[in-house]
Amino acid sequence: MSTPIDEDALASRFPTAFAWGAATSSYQVEGSTDADGRGKSIWDRFVNEPGRVVDGSNGDTAIDSYRNIAGDVATIKALGLGSYRFSLSWPRICPDGDGRVNQAGLTYYSKLVDALLAEDITPWITLYHWDLPQTLEDAGGWPERATAERFGEFARIAHEALGDRVKHWITVNEPWCAAFLGYASGEHAPGRREPAASIAAAHHLMLGHGLAARAIKAADPDAVVSIGLNFYPVHAASDAPVDLDAARRVDGVQNRWFTDAALRGVYPEDIVEDFKAVTDFSFVEDGDMALIHAPIDVLSVNYYSRFTVTGNGGATSASAAPTGAGSAWPANEHIGFVSSGLPVTDMGWEIEPAGLTQMLVRLHTGYPEVALAVTENGAAFPDKIEDGAIHDPERLEYVQAHLAACADAVEAGVPLVGYFAWSLADNFEWAWGYTKRFGLVYVDFETGERTIKDSGHWYGDLVRRARTNREAE
Ligand code: FCB
Repeated sequence: MSTPIDEDALASRFPTAFAWGAATSSYQVEGSTDADGRGKSIWDRFVNEPGRVVDGSNGDTAIDSYRNIAGDVATIKALGLGSYRFSLSWPRICPDGDGRVNQAGLTYYSKLVDALLAEDITPWITLYHWDLPQTLEDAGGWPERATAERFGEFARIAHEALGDRVKHWITVNEPWCAAFLGYASGEHAPGRREPAASIAAAHHLMLGHGLAARAIKAADPDAVVSIGLNFYPVHAASDAPVDLDAARRVDGVQNRWFTDAALRGVYPEDIVEDFKAVTDFSFVEDGDMALIHAPIDVLSVNYYSRFTVTGNGGATSASAAPTGAGSAWPANEHIGFVSSGLPVTDMGWEIEPAGLTQMLVRLHTGYPEVALAVTENGAAFPDKIEDGAIHDPERLEYVQAHLAACADAVEAGVPLVGYFAWSLADNFEWAWGYTKRFGLVYVDFETGERTIKDSGHWYGDLVRRARTNREAE
């Protein structure tokens, strides 16, 4: 059980202007994948291939958010949250990924934005949360430069339609996952296992980020532009050189590759050398790094867990890695992930709140020019509805401990501007289908009925206290 904590004291440790929110993504919640002219995405294709999703499920219905704007906004309001992070489905807006627009897609997001603003909830939009138009994948996908260029156009189209009301824009969510789970390990759509192509994909995702960030800033210099990256503290399993080198490599690909590109305009030299084993980098053109190094305002931090790694391969314990991550680090097949004995969530991810403080401090120290926001943090646990309630003490404790870790970072001088729980509600958890529940709100996947979990009630209460503090000032 969780240790009693003083919510007022915790609430008072956050800045008064702070975005308190929860997050979702389009394919995980919307459903209605055939509605109103939406094109197909790589996830629509991937989920129908045998063996890709553990429970054989898909996002055709998901949690039906497309048809339930009012219900979702009411849920966010019932929780008392001031911000909502959601993503745009690129093929809903541009069915073939090119400049031809499906107006009905834009209308849906426009209505969602209006409904949020009517309740004083600030929208944070993610432009790419992994649902690439299938047409673009058919033309080669992210390993192709043209995909980055199309993404820049999509950003301009989306901003033109919504930028009058939306100030917060996250370009790409977790390019690490999109590139390496999508094109190296094949655990995510499009399910390719091509290490060289995955590094080209990573580069074009970053080029797409740069083009999108620039398009938005050109249209609105006051927009708050960000990129969403997933970070993990990486520990070596021992002091043996082979383990220390494994830790350097994993830290480099996970925590330095994308951040250095976005915020310094360079890829880390040591990882470039490692990757030369599988690619000649001929896809990097003159001027690309300068384009990627676009001015951004906020670095969006997704944080769930930590890694302990060994260079002795074969020792991978699937439960210690975010997924079967071995082949997701190209040219690092000998790397294994081991348990450090910490408690784990239902994903098998080790729980280490102090790692979040350390990561926020490290990022602020390394990249002091940007503000930071935690745009995803949360835990899957198997929930059961009992007498109309969901008692989820483990998730509650996870959220409490990670918020305390955020407060520690704030007190250490980190300019933290927001916290978004992953997720607003249980949803389609990619290759895990509907078997993992991350929501603050429980969803009956048969009926779609929503029930706020104990963790959601607690979080909403904390947010209300924080907002009361703000009003008192
Ligand atoms: C992140 C994803 C998000 C969700 C959580 C659990 O990597 O961005 O969509 O799957 O993990």
